[in-house]
Order: sequence, then C-alpha cells, then structure tokens
Amino acid sequence: MEKKDLIEKINKIKREKNAVILAHVYQRPEIYNVADFIGDSYGLSKKATETEAEIIVFCGVDFMAESAYILNPEKTVLIPTKLASCPMAAMVDVNSLRKLKAQHPNAAIVSYVNTTAAVKAESDICCTSANAIKVVNSIPEEEIIFVPDSNLANYVMTHTDKKIIPWNGWCYVHNKFSSEELVKTKKLHPDAKILVHPECIPEVVDLADEVLSTTGMINYVRQNSVKKFIIATEIGVIEKLLLEFPEKIFFQAPPGGTCLQMKKITLELVFASLEKKQFRVVVPENIRVRAKKALDRMLNVA
Ligand code: 13P
Ligand code: SF4
Repeated sequence: MEKKDLIEKINKIKREKNAVILAHVYQRPEIYNVADFIGDSYGLSKKATETEAEIIVFCGVDFMAESAYILNPEKTVLIPTKLASCPMAAMVDVNSLRKLKAQHPNAAIVSYVNTTAAVKAESDICCTSANAIKVVNSIPEEEIIFVPDSNLANYVMTHTDKKIIPWNGWCYVHNKFSSEELVKTKKLHPDAKILVHPECIPEVVDLADEVLSTTGMINYVRQNSVKKFIIATEIGVIEKLLLEFPEKIFFQAPPGGTCLQMKKITLELVFASLEKKQFRVVVPENIRVRAKKALDRMLNVA
C-alpha cells in the first residue's frame, strides 16, 4: 500500500477508535504524519496526562509508553512493537539499586525517565533531560543516587553543589559522539552553533554552545536567527529540523547515530496496533502507584 493511503487509513481509524498518537522526535519521519503530538520525553509525559482520548498509541520506546500508562491507568496504552526497548533503561535493576541505597541511606534516588516502572517505583523523583538540574536542585536531600545515565549525572554535577552518586549506564547512540571529531567539524563551520544532548560524554558537552533536550533543540533553532547548527543527538532531531526549517543548515555531529529501537516502529505497525489493539502496556498496580508518585513529583517541579 502507498504511504499516503496508509496515513489516511491510520488517521481514519484513529478518529473512529477515539485514539491519540504520541510520538517521540526520534521516530521515523513517516510517523510524524499521523502523530497528534511530537515531543521529548518530558513533553510526552505531560501530554499523556492531558489527553481525553480512550486509547494512547505510543510511538517511542518502552519506558515512555509505560510512563503514559502509569499516569493514565484508565486508558488503553498501546505500543506498536515490543522491540522498541531502550537499552539504557535496562541497565539498572531494582536489586542492585537497593544495594546501592543501603550503602547511602540518606541519599535520594533520582531516576531518569529512561528506567523501568519497577525502578521508578524505588525512586524519590524522576527527571528527564529537559529538567534534570531543576529536579535535583528542588529536593531537600544533599546526596543523590542518580540512575542510570552516567553522562547526564556528570552534566548535573556541574550545575549543583549536591553530592551525586552516578550509576554506570549510558546510551549507545550518544556515547559515540567524539569531541575530536566535533572540533574538526566546528573548524569547517566556525559560524555554526553546537547543540548537544546531555546524554553525550562530558568532553562533548564541554564544547556545546547549548545543552538541550530534543524539544529544547528544536525550540532553540526556532528562536535563534543563526543559520547553521552542528547537532550532537540522534538523527531524528536533524530530520525533524530539516522538515521544519528548510532554510537552515544542520549537520549531525560525527560519527552520527541512529537509535535502532526507536526506528522499529513503522506506519504498518501503527495501523496494526490500532486495528488489533496491540500491544497493550500495563504495569502491576503495586508498582504503578509508587512509580506514579515519582513521576507526579517531577511534573510538579518542572
Ligand atoms: P529527550 O528527553 O530529549 O526526549 O531524550 C530522550 C532520550 O531517550 C534521549 O536519548
Ligand atoms: Fe535509549 Fe539512547 Fe535510544 Fe534514547 S537514543 S531511547 S537513551 S537507546
């Protein structure tokens, strides 16, 4: 079937079933055509609390869909494929986290939303790349166990006086951006602004003009008169920027990077998801209630 026809069919069935499609910026651009909202992890969590639709089809990775369910247990939350699973979210488990907490009983646990529901349930508060610094500085504890991204933890450390105990997780996409290559690219384009996602290594973050979440990058480009940008994040952001700002020039920082898990979702799978109501995302109630507290607390801070 032609893409255009499939897009029409999805938009029709979506209306018939009173469904909404929430999509992360890293999705394939074809998904943008059927999305009701495209955003970063923070924007998507907020949007999930605001929708009146009965069904949420979540075009993103597993932890994002889980968060949508945690916040909306009365709704049907669907993810088009079970293969869209963030490897970084799997890098921290409850037992190891409890062991670390036992060694630091006075520390608060701040978990990046890139975690399982079970880990969120162990946490005092969640954060996203858009609000991590604000969240850490908003809580009373002076000692903080920060899971799972060590790069985001390092970035937060440079913006707080609190003691941060980082977990040793990382994102395979962002960890690869190299400071040497970024310096070379900047030499070729001295008039370009460097925008960096805080999941990048500290040496890359140090070279940034701005450190921003995915939506933060798009807003920054919208509000800035500069024409050229070097962007250190997943390719989806560059694809979205090219669509929105065809008059501007964007380079992905070398060696580039694609989140294979985000790209597992296709228009065909979105249609099947709506037609067959698959695959339902559910979190056991005892975990959901505790995880919701950590998410709600974040949403109340920022
Ligand atoms: P954002 O918070 O910018 O959406 O990033 C989420 C993510 O998974 C980055 O790799
Ligand atoms: Fe996870 Fe990295 Fe993909 Fe984001 S880009 S979803 S952190 S693997």
